[in-house]
Amino acid sequence: MTTPVTHDPLEAARVLAAGGVVAFPTETVYGLGASLEHPTAVRRVFAIKGRPSGHPLIVHGADDAILDRYATSLPPEARALAIAFWPGPLTLVVPRATRVPDTVTGGRNTVGLRVPDQPLARAMLRALGSGVAAPSANLFGRTSPTTARHVMADLGEHVDLILDGGPCAVGLESTILDLSEAPATILRSGGISAEAIERVLGRPVIRTASGPARAPGMLAAHYAPRAPVIVTTRSELVNALAGMRASGQPTALIAASDVAPGDPSVTVLHPSGDRPEDFAHDLYRLLREADAGGATAILVVPPEGEGIAVAVRDRLARAASAARPDDR
Ligand code: TXA
Ligand code: MG
Repeated sequence: MTTPVTHDPLEAARVLAAGGVVAFPTETVYGLGASLEHPTAVRRVFAIKGRPSGHPLIVHGADDAILDRYATSLPPEARALAIAFWPGPLTLVVPRATRVPDTVTGGRNTVGLRVPDQPLARAMLRALGSGVAAPSANLFGRTSPTTARHVMADLGEHVDLILDGGPCAVGLESTILDLSEAPATILRSGGISAEAIERVLGRPVIRTASGPARAPGMLAAHYAPRAPVIVTTRSELVNALAGMRASGQPTALIAASDVAPGDPSVTVLHPSGDRPEDFAHDLYRLLREADAGGATAILVVPPEGEGIAVAVRDRLARAASAARPDDR
């Protein structure tokens, strides 16, 4: 049995309206979606991913109207941020309206809301007319999918339909900003930088609260390929490579095109360009390629600086701290 794949957002909306589970593209990563009107489908999403039921899902909508529909006692900053960044890779955690089912929020009194910037996703959401609860469409603890083929490889026949929108433009998950308590706090870095948020709010946000307490699901051992990830720098690369050679492990290196290991035993994987945005766009694909190529260790030289580079380093740090890679 093969999973149906479509390019038609209206077909995806019909399957969701009938209580099905649909993998769909966003500008960040592919999501595994269920309509909020079908709590049984939402429960299936948890089961398919192997995700603990206490980890809340983000609710996706076609436009800012989701703030009125799914939130209550809206913090005043929410509307300004939605105007500035939606559609786009920013998830706002706000007090939830009662119509958001407990299955979605893991029983919390807040909900994460987001309007994705992907034309097929928005057409699907517009046609459906209700919110779609969706985590990233990967198995629990693994790297998120950035193509329909990744979804197929991870979740295959367990989903009812895959909406194929091509590769995701950003390639890393959304920035999550918690507005439910002051001061506003970034729970996960992503495509919208802390500086950009601060410019809209006119005051600082807290950047360090990621962790199970505030965002369940933000475990250290997330976002990891099968092979262990070792994060290094340009200046330490020579030593890191010497260490790998001594261990005799098949090693892959992910780094910008001007980083050359000069070591034929290392499989070198370059992002398609040298901007941090290119690194973000290609990172998950390259981690999967390193795995598929049989590497048992993956060295990575991440980009430096602010903006999306912060999110790249965050995901790599999580992948690198995965203790038992085959047992998540
Ligand atoms: O870019 C994205 O955000 C992608 C696409 C599909 O939209 N989605 C995504 O979902 O990455 P997921 O479930 O893999 O990660 C969402 C994170 C989880 O760590 C979850 O704990 C946190 O968001 N989260 C969701 N609702 C929350 C809430 N009410 N309070 C705190 N954290 C929340
Ligand atoms: Mg995820």
